[in-house]
Amino acid sequence: TTLYIPCDYAALSLGADDVVAAIRAEADKRGADIKIIRNGTRGMLWLEPLVEVDVDGVRHGYGPVSASDVAGLFDADFLTAGSHALSIGVTEEHDWLVNQERLTFARVGVIDPLDLKAYDKLGGWDGLYRAAKMSPAEIVSEVTESGLRGRGGAGFPAGIKWKTVSELPGDQKYICCNADEGDSGTFADRMLMEGDPFCLLEGMAIAGLATGATEGYIYIRSEYPHSIETVGKAIAAMEEAGFLGDNVAGSGKAFRIFIRRGAGAYICGEESSMLESMEGKRGTVRSKPPIPAVKGLFGKPTVVNNVLSLATVPVILAKGAEFYKSFGMGRSHGTLPFQIAGNVKRGGLVEKAFGVSIRDLIEGFGGGTATGRPFKAAQIGGPLGAYVNEGQLDLPMDYETLAADGAMVGHGGIVVFDDTADMAGMARFAFEFCAIESCGKCTPCRIGAVRGKEAVDKIMNGVDVAANIALVEDLCEVMTDGSLCAMGGLTPMPVRSALRHFPEDFDRAPAAAA
Ligand code: NAI
Ligand code: SF4
Repeated sequence: TTLYIPCDYAALSLGADDVVAAIRAEADKRGADIKIIRNGTRGMLWLEPLVEVDVDGVRHGYGPVSASDVAGLFDADFLTAGSHALSIGVTEEHDWLVNQERLTFARVGVIDPLDLKAYDKLGGWDGLYRAAKMSPAEIVSEVTESGLRGRGGAGFPAGIKWKTVSELPGDQKYICCNADEGDSGTFADRMLMEGDPFCLLEGMAIAGLATGATEGYIYIRSEYPHSIETVGKAIAAMEEAGFLGDNVAGSGKAFRIFIRRGAGAYICGEESSMLESMEGKRGTVRSKPPIPAVKGLFGKPTVVNNVLSLATVPVILAKGAEFYKSFGMGRSHGTLPFQIAGNVKRGGLVEKAFGVSIRDLIEGFGGGTATGRPFKAAQIGGPLGAYVNEGQLDLPMDYETLAADGAMVGHGGIVVFDDTADMAGMARFAFEFCAIESCGKCTPCRIGAVRGKEAVDKIMNGVDVAANIALVEDLCEVMTDGSLCAMGGLTPMPVRSALRHFPEDFDRAPAAAA
């Protein structure tokens, strides 16, 4: 019997290795013939460690399993899909998965992330082989036509960025993958790197063919040691199989990939600080222009794309721009891997076409708050994203719709809060976060964040509330208009949304004198 038990870090942190050891020991004791495949996670994180048993090619799930459940699972004949309190039935029939459109994450949680044959069998390399026979201009136009926009958060059209790099002359160009996934409540980049690394590397190789870049670098945050290890092994396997090296997939063109490890600064997720860090310097933001597409890594034309943008390229090349473009709404084409976290019953990864409502994600997939208390707010798009309230839950997830309502889709992270959340405290947190993570290069961000935190402290203590709210509004305007990058420029978004949607939380009485 074949079992699947994830080796993704989310599952490992919940004891997946202990479960594997317990199942092996119990199988030995009972003389059961088993084979365990370590897959990525399916993204149903509340069910991890999820153990799947393959019965006649159909996978039946049990979760969350702990080592102490193992003897009971054997007693319930789980190896032949016997029923047990932890049984979730046929995994792929679970409503969480049935209601998704998994294009980028099609293989994540399904295969052993380092099994080249399994990758190939489920459509891997189709995109790269097709690209290997196309001209750079044809590849670029396929990506442009698909409508793919930067999945790191800014939503800039990927094809236009590639076109700029492709058409510039240059003895050396680079593809840099931003895997410095620093947003709170996000884990899609990690899940993909640990669940289907070949998909990301295939996308980078296609970007190389499209732009004439011969080297690719992945900047992975140091907090993701397991991603670094998995991607490193995947690079070695691809080199050996001829998908990286001097003749990529028979194209006659060279492309190699290297890993660079971050050192823990949030600002290194901003593309120009990331490039500084990759060059061995301190991670400070560069003034733009020039944009990295023109002068990027070591001053050479460089594509900087997020993990999810690059990992979406293989399916676009394999199935065609029209196929990808048929998903989504308005100018937001395709799908986005949303990450549901915070105070929510069912946290995890949901890949859906743009247009899904915030309510569907939080209530439908997420099942509402974990505490069972009323929903109060959700922060969408990381620590620099807006807090939305109950009245905004029916908004469709679409770059333009959210922007028009003072919010942003960002990298697709959603953090849920119940009615105990203090939104003045969350506004304070936004300023505090910015004060800690600011690179210090420009004044509105470096000083504004500190002053903002002080002003919110006064509001929370009931000191000159109206005057300090006016000061916060003023600081927000200066930071939005005057900051050099999105760190200082977007910090006002959570602050303003908290003020706008939850004014009662800022209406503080003076604290009693000590
Ligand atoms: P941006 O709008 O300045 O640029 C977006 C991208 O388009 C950049 O790569 C830029 O170089 C490129 N670009 C702009 N004009 C171009 C042109 N004419 N030709 C070619 N390329 C061009 O946004 P930025 O500052 O790069 O990113 C801000 C976003 O980052 C925010 O909206 C936020 O959602 C997101 N973010 C993501 C985080 C994460 O962990 N994934 C963390 C923090 C913020
Ligand atoms: Fe640095 Fe903040 Fe200015 Fe960005 S906005 S360049 S993080 S000081």
